[in-house]
Amino acid sequence: MHFEFDKIINRLGTSSSKWNKYNRPEIIPMWVADMDFETAPCIKSALLDRINHGIYGYTEPPKELPSTVAQYLKTEFNWSIDTDWIVWLPSLVVGLNIVSRAFADKGEAILSNTPIYPPFLSAPINGDREAITTPLMWDGKKWAMDFDSLEKSVTNKTKAFLFCSPHNPTGRVWDIHELNALVNFCHKHNLTLISDEIHAGLILDKDKSHTVTANIPDAADISVTLLSASKTFNMPGLGCAYAIVKNPILRNKLKKIMNGIVHHVGALGYTATLAAYKDGKPWHNALVDYLRLNRDHVENSLAPHTQLKTYHSEATYLTWIDARQMNVENPSEYFENFGVGIYDGTPFGAPGFLRLNFACPRIMLSEALSRIQRGLDALD
Ligand SMILES: Cc1ncc(COP(=O)(O)O)c(C=O)c1O
Repeated sequence: MHFEFDKIINRLGTSSSKWNKYNRPEIIPMWVADMDFETAPCIKSALLDRINHGIYGYTEPPKELPSTVAQYLKTEFNWSIDTDWIVWLPSLVVGLNIVSRAFADKGEAILSNTPIYPPFLSAPINGDREAITTPLMWDGKKWAMDFDSLEKSVTNKTKAFLFCSPHNPTGRVWDIHELNALVNFCHKHNLTLISDEIHAGLILDKDKSHTVTANIPDAADISVTLLSASKTFNMPGLGCAYAIVKNPILRNKLKKIMNGIVHHVGALGYTATLAAYKDGKPWHNALVDYLRLNRDHVENSLAPHTQLKTYHSEATYLTWIDARQMNVENPSEYFENFGVGIYDGTPFGAPGFLRLNFACPRIMLSEALSRIQRGLDALD
């Protein structure tokens, strides 16, 4: 089946956060994690059917959605869940904030690794919890968790670990040994293990696969898994996500904090998620093939430039880049002046780094990469 990932779609004038940021149409935006591709045709057509109905009242999760989610998780990740474990959320950022409040009290602490998707650092603080961080270490081949340093950071005030798998921004797909070590660490220190797996559908390396953290032996009872179809199917503007929580004590804590505050998912979010999980597989397969070639294009184009160190993305549509050798004060602003908007590493806890989103038509990516090269040439 052919899908048109090469098609350029003008997003200016659609109130897109990604394209509005720079207020300069000449800048190609490669910062926030959404894709410049139309979503799967099966999703668009399900939404059009729903829109054509014309009444948009309060909406329950469609009857077949919980079992469709369970079937999807079984087929994609070999993870068996009970549909009662699903807690619907309007977004994963809401999820990160809610879990921070549910699993640590005011004044207690939540641990995570940097660099990390910025809401991991702000969610604990928003709820007057402390955010403790330990840097990932570069072991010469890959970014890895540093358990010696984690042991030093954890205190008896630490109540939860916020984990990102696959990892945004480094693109790591954690292996079973790393996940086992993390589960043991959380048991040893009585931490609730919150695993944000929103990028699980975006594994690019053909020899890698996603392992759900909660599916590791002994993990299920201490785990909260945060998921959404929104990254994989490019519909983060529709607001549908969910937590899977096996342990009823943890699930009830989560629901109690949400009660009366967290808005329910809207009709369109449910409709799109159902269509994605039921019928989106051919589009998803084609997307991953397209993204893999884009990833290779980025890595090959930037490899000769010693001012940038580019890390291999095993998953996600994001490339993590060390720009410290450029010796410019603000590398993201520098590249904006050459017409490319790349996310600065500072909010990820890593000043001097950049995160580049390569989920766009290849012709647009090639143009952005030539602008980056022009910027680097101008440094010499
Ligand atoms: C790791 C991670 N979690 C959560 C989100 C945001 O999820 P949502 O749009 O559902 O709030 C993102 C978006 O980039 C992400 O990368």
